[in-house]
Amino acid sequence: MEANPQKRKETRKSLRVKVISMGNAEVGKSCIIKRYCEKRFVPKYLATIGIDYGVTKVQVRDREIKVNIFDMAGHPFFYEVRNEFYKDTQGVILVYDVGQKESFDALDAWLAEMKQELGPHGNMENIVFVVCANKIDCAKHRSVDESEGRLWAESRGFLYFETSAQTGEGINEMFQTFYSAIIDLCDNGGKRPPSSMGVGFTKEQADAIRRIRNSKDSWDMLGVKPGATRDEVNKAYRKLAVLLHPDKCVAPGSEDAFKAVVNARTVLLKNINVGTDASST
Ligand code: GTP
Ligand code: MG
Repeated sequence: MEANPQKRKETRKSLRVKVISMGNAEVGKSCIIKRYCEKRFVPKYLATIGIDYGVTKVQVRDREIKVNIFDMAGHPFFYEVRNEFYKDTQGVILVYDVGQKESFDALDAWLAEMKQELGPHGNMENIVFVVCANKIDCAKHRSVDESEGRLWAESRGFLYFETSAQTGEGINEMFQTFYSAIIDLCDNGGKRPPSSMGVGFTKEQADAIRRIRNSKDSWDMLGVKPGATRDEVNKAYRKLAVLLHPDKCVAPGSEDAFKAVVNARTVLLKNINVGTDASST
C-alpha cells in the first residue's frame, strides 16, 4: 500500500546537483552564471577570488532542480583553493574566450587538472560537460572559429554552445540543455545515457581535421614527406578524401578540411615534375 503517493512523486521530481565552472581567468565564467541567474552583465572585470558559491532553483522539463554552483577562479594562483571542489560534480561548464586562442588551447589542461584531482577512481565519463565559446559579441577579434570549438567539444561527447554573457545570446539555451542532460544522467543512475554519446563521426575523422587545420604546408597537410612522388601524394589524398568526404563525414569542419586537402593535392601535383617522376596518377 502507498503511504503518501503525492509526497513520493514530489521527491522523485526534485533533484539536487553540483555544477562547477572551469576555464582560464577572464574568459567570462562568472558573467555567464550572473547573466543566467541575475539577468545582468557586469562590464568591469572582478576576478573571482578562489571560489564563488551560489544555490539556485531551476525548472527544467517537469522537474525542479536545486543547483549548487561553484564558480572557480581561473587564475593559476588559486589552484590550491579550487582543487578541493572537483569531487562529486554532475556538471561542468567549460569556458573559453573566442578571441583568445590560449584560452581554447588551455581546455585540455583544465580537463587534466580535474582528472588529477579526482584521482584514479574518479570517473570523468559520467559528468555532463558543456563547452561555452564565449564573447561571440566581439566578432572582430575572433580567433577560434565555431567548427574548431565544436569539433573539440563534440569529439569528446561534450555539449557545445556559442555564448555571449554581454548580450545574453545562447545563455538560456545552453543552461536548459545542460540541466536537461544532467537530469537524464541522474535518471540513468548517474551514468551518461548511451544516446548522448553518439556524435556521428569517428575519432580518426576528428584527428584528421585537427591535423589538417594545424598543418604548416601542403606536404604536411597530406601527411607525406617533402619530395614525395605523385603516387605517394595521390595515395595519401585518396585516403583523406574517403575519410572526410562531406557525404560521409558529419564532423564539424570536415567540408573545409576536405577542400583544403583537394587544394593541397593540386598544388603538390603541379610542382612535382612529371619528367623526373615515373609514377602515374
Ligand atoms: P576569473 O574569475 O578571473 O577566472 O574570470 P572569469 O572567467 O570569471 O571572467 P569574468 O566573468 O569575470 O569576465 C571577465 C571580463 O570579461 C569582464 O570584464 C567581463 O565583463 C568580460 N566579459 C565576460 N563575458 C563577456 C562577453 O560575453 N562579452 C564581452 N564582450 N565581455 C565579456
Ligand atoms: Mg570569475
